Amino acid sequence: MTTRIRSRTLGRTGLTVSELGFGAWGIGGGLWGNPDDAVAKSALKNALQLGVTFFDTALAYGDGHSERLIAETVRDEGLRRTVTIATKIPPKNREWPARHDAPIREVFPKDWIITCTEKSLRNLDCDFLDLQQLHVWSPAWLAETEWIDTLRDLQLAGKIRYLGVSLNDHEPDDALDLVRSGWVDALQVIFNLFDQSPATRLFPLAQEHHVGIIARCPFDEGGLTGILRGDTVFPRGDWRREYFKGERLGDTVRRAEALKFLVGDGIESLAHAALQFVLSHRVLSEPSVSTVIPGMRRREHVEANCRYSLGPPLSADDMERAKSHAWARNFYD
Ligand SMILES: NC(=O)c1ccc[n+]([C@@H]2O[C@H](COP(=O)([O-])OP(=O)(O)OC[C@H]3O[C@@H](n4cnc5c(N)ncnc54)[C@H](OP(=O)(O)O)[C@@H]3O)[C@@H](O)[C@H]2O)c1
Repeated sequence: MTTRIRSRTLGRTGLTVSELGFGAWGIGGGLWGNPDDAVAKSALKNALQLGVTFFDTALAYGDGHSERLIAETVRDEGLRRTVTIATKIPPKNREWPARHDAPIREVFPKDWIITCTEKSLRNLDCDFLDLQQLHVWSPAWLAETEWIDTLRDLQLAGKIRYLGVSLNDHEPDDALDLVRSGWVDALQVIFNLFDQSPATRLFPLAQEHHVGIIARCPFDEGGLTGILRGDTVFPRGDWRREYFKGERLGDTVRRAEALKFLVGDGIESLAHAALQFVLSHRVLSEPSVSTVIPGMRRREHVEANCRYSLGPPLSADDMERAKSHAWARNFYD
């Protein structure tokens, strides 16, 4: 592939980021099973060479392993200055998603925010974090200010450039008041052919307030890749044994099959359609998302997704038809 990935602006940060980003949860290992670092580094290297400039990681991904792999590969390729790396502060109480009634002093107290930021700075081997995100969110925390004051102090100290929040699964409207508050520069949210809910209220409001949108889980953890079957068995240690347990896998495969009308006219596969659904989405003719971050542990997936991102977009007619395939459910519970 010779054409480079296209770029978009990450909201009011003004940062130019590749519209296809790299979701780096899986390469950290942990819930995804034993990581294969050589395979992961080859995937990262390939992404960098193809023009991916946005990487989403977290301190929690393999206890910093994902952050360290990104830092090593970016350094080896001599590209630290040209990429944007977003990371996240894990909840101190280790609860994903956040309980709405969890007091923020148990989840993101001041000393925890500082300690985690320092750890990520060491793992990423840099002087400042491009984007520091809270890894969970409860709207009740808008009534508190210690967390935002602490993050702003870290910004003033030059350790963080921009602030973001990664929202709880399938709860985009939890962020509406947060957007209005003006406290964050970017939000990370699930957006895919099944969960289209951010398009109703969050995307128009984020656009109005110039808040960047990082769209995660474009493939519904594999459900929208078109490669799962009713009898797929996930490897031992892969958390998706739980996510797709019981009737869920069969239901997902049937729903994914019903979306195959999107394939054709230059759209190679369901995975291609799933990625282009996110990239093609518009609010008032402007892209709704700044970057989409599929999880990728393998070079083949990096190559395919880079190719898919280059187009063509889904037609307006297909985008309209896709609306009726939205599926409200929460398999993360
Ligand atoms: N709470 C949070 O903040 C939160 C939660 C979830 C995710 N995230 C972020 O969002 C990113 C994406 O989410 P995710 O990784 O959970 O889910 P996802 O992107 O919906 O799906 C990832 C799965 O799709 C597979 N895949 C990728 N490209 C493919 C292709 N072209 N064809 C077939 N299969 C393909 C991956 O395989 P391989 O891994 O084998 O390449 C992996 O199994 C994460 O990596 C992380 O950065 C954040």
